[in-house]
Amino acid sequence: MQASLAQPNAGFASALAPELDYNPRPRTAATGVGREAKVFGVQVMSIEQLENIAQAMVAPGKGIIAIDESNSTIKKRFDAVGIECTEETRRAYREMLLTTPSLGEHISGAILYDETIRQSTKSGVPFTKVMLDAGILPGIKVDKGPQPLAGFPGEVVTEGLDGLRERLNEYARLGAKFAKWRAVITIGDDAPSGTCIEANCHALARYAALCQEAGIVPMVEPEILMDGEHDIDVCYDVTEATLRSLFGSLYEQNVLLEGTILKASMVIPGKGCAEQASADEVAEATVRCLKTSVPALLPGIVFLSGGQSDEQATAHLNAMNQMGPHPWPLSFSYGRAMQSAALKLWSKDMQKNFADAQKTVAQRARENGLAALGQWKKAPVFFAARVGRLRGFFQADALEHALFKPVAQVFDQAFDRHEGDQQRARVGKIAHRKQDRHSRKRVHRNQPHIGREQQHIFQSTPHCNVDRPMLEVAIELH
Ligand code: 13P
Repeated sequence: MQASLAQPNAGFASALAPELDYNPRPRTAATGVGREAKVFGVQVMSIEQLENIAQAMVAPGKGIIAIDESNSTIKKRFDAVGIECTEETRRAYREMLLTTPSLGEHISGAILYDETIRQSTKSGVPFTKVMLDAGILPGIKVDKGPQPLAGFPGEVVTEGLDGLRERLNEYARLGAKFAKWRAVITIGDDAPSGTCIEANCHALARYAALCQEAGIVPMVEPEILMDGEHDIDVCYDVTEATLRSLFGSLYEQNVLLEGTILKASMVIPGKGCAEQASADEVAEATVRCLKTSVPALLPGIVFLSGGQSDEQATAHLNAMNQMGPHPWPLSFSYGRAMQSAALKLWSKDMQKNFADAQKTVAQRARENGLAALGQWKKAPVFFAARVGRLRGFFQADALEHALFKPVAQVFDQAFDRHEGDQQRARVGKIAHRKQDRHSRKRVHRNQPHIGREQQHIFQSTPHCNVDRPMLEVAIELH
């Protein structure tokens, strides 16, 4: 079921035309009047400093790693890979992430959770110091999570405004330079309602104003969930309505856009939609939607990954930046798409895989940093092939050539097997039996459907200029 625009006052379309009251603004960026952030009347930071932080968050080729999972969310992630969720395992995991060598090359900031901002490395160095030494800005999630919106079954509103001023002041003392508040918008039968959008955007704007008062850059995050069967056009309409409402609310609350960062979801079909979109379609729709609803004055926009695969999240960001230049830098603030590969590796052996897990984090940071510049390239898949006396390594594209057609068929089949879950286990076993992934010992398997050809399946390609393991197939035609 898709959301409908038919009833402008009942549906999300009402948020397209919010009624804005004119508020005489106490200060403007242009005149410099009141260019200071105050906490209980005491100046703590100039507007220029807020602007500088916001700009540093989206510096060219850099983005943000979100490691601000609440204790219940990180428990779900840990459960999935068989790690017990305790204060110590959470601390150890975040230490692994934050001490990744050279992380600051592509990461400008990290969003922490309340527990994490108070934690230290095993040797006693506060995480915030580790980060600042590495040139990474500490950020903090300050919302208290979504709660059911009374009167609107299935919809939620994010809570956490009560006591926020005091909490922000404490976070500022602990070293936080920016904060995050996530609103959740669900697409469903009659959702989202205009009421849900407005309630969430009002809270986002109230939060943002409090952040700036405390000298903290607000990251405002209205996430349109990917759950559902809706198509890309519905996602576009909901995203546009939400962003227009959000910037209306920010204006009403006197939030200074120059010291604000938008964390947006991409315009993308629902996970259950039969018609998925190409990277270029997602990029084009997202950029068009942002251009129609986000003021050019904003210092930058970062994206959440929202359940996309690592590669999708990178490819979409890259495609957007290849369509640039845009009015704002477009970068990333990924949680799962930055961490999931590293978490999987770390969970298998926390000590032994510590350095490899960090390499995976660094690799994801590098790839997303390149995507933020529009310079990312999908890692080429190479195949090793021998056809009669010919032997060589071929990129997947080369297999389109007629000469390699029979070889290509074999590759396709082998590749499908590799991708399939059952076969993944099988290839995994072969790799295990080989012991040394780089030894290139052969494993013979008969393939009746290709006659006398024999396939040899290897894993990993030491001769390729990519860091991740991939399938390599050698073919012999007799
Ligand atoms: P994901 O990238 O996993 O969606 O998380 C980003 C985030 O911080 C959501 O609030």
